[in-house]
Amino acid sequence: MIARSILITGASSGIGRALALAYAAPGVRLALLGRDASRLAAVAEAARAKGAVVEAGTVDVRDRLAMASWIEAADIFQPFDLAIANAGITTGLAPGALTEDPEAVRAILATNLVGVLNTAEPLIAPMCARGTGQLAFVGSLAGLHGLPYSPAYCVTKAGVHAYAESLRGRLEPQGVLVSLIIAGFVKTPLNDSIDAMKPGEITDAEAAALIKRGLSKGKATIAFPWFLYVLTRLGRLLPARVYDRIMAGVTVTVPGTQERIGPENI
Ligand SMILES: NC(=O)c1ccc[n+]([C@@H]2O[C@H](COP(=O)([O-])OP(=O)(O)OC[C@H]3O[C@@H](n4cnc5c(N)ncnc54)[C@H](OP(=O)(O)O)[C@@H]3O)[C@@H](O)[C@H]2O)c1
Repeated sequence: MIARSILITGASSGIGRALALAYAAPGVRLALLGRDASRLAAVAEAARAKGAVVEAGTVDVRDRLAMASWIEAADIFQPFDLAIANAGITTGLAPGALTEDPEAVRAILATNLVGVLNTAEPLIAPMCARGTGQLAFVGSLAGLHGLPYSPAYCVTKAGVHAYAESLRGRLEPQGVLVSLIIAGFVKTPLNDSIDAMKPGEITDAEAAALIKRGLSKGKATIAFPWFLYVLTRLGRLLPARVYDRIMAGVTVTVPGTQERIGPENI
């Protein structure tokens, strides 16, 4: 089923922007959330040019009450049949550092984990009452196994995976599909900030096409690229210290929180 009324968070950039453009078509209503008003307006305009009806909201996913009030009003106006909790940031250990900046850790937990709860919670009861709908969560290969260079990011994505898996068992008997997207490297501003080998990297438009196809089939898990997904899953079967030794040989630099907009600018 191709969704017709869709909420996308983090639609002002990268994967969220590409998803908005992939879904934009006549007869489709898009509710797009982000914080950077000018980038979000540009995406909304491009989606309208493809025939979609678009509402754009500059709401911070960390703000539970603002998220609930925006999403509930938009859902009453026209019920969502798909919501994609995509907004996220990254952070990592500075070279030589033993711990991440505590502020950056709190910021990423609030955005990547609490922000996902703030997106899904307002829609769970209405979708269940309607007996239809789909909730999609953007996770990461980094959610499958802890990585020594970005502990907090891995925590948030593992949390998103566990949340999606938990909701699936509870909501699917009520008619609401739950899909977890386990993304590998996708060329976006977030990904550009990471200095590493990026096997299997794809463009944001390619990622959006894979996600859209998987969601239309109602897949529980949409993982790409398949070879990194399989390798990471197999890695979990290795003895922990063997896995650690392999990872110690991989050089990755992830800078501190990649916030492109501060709360004072919201
Ligand atoms: N790119 C990859 O390789 C990759 C791999 C695996 C998973 N992912 C996941 O994919 C998702 C999208 O990332 P991306 O690569 O497309 O990054 P991106 O281009 O940096 O886009 C991130 C989006 O999240 C929004 N966002 C960040 N903090 C927010 C907040 N507090 N409130 C509202 N919106 C906020 C940004 O909006 P503003 O800029 O307007 O604030 C932006 O639209 C993230 O969850 C990321 O973890 C990405």
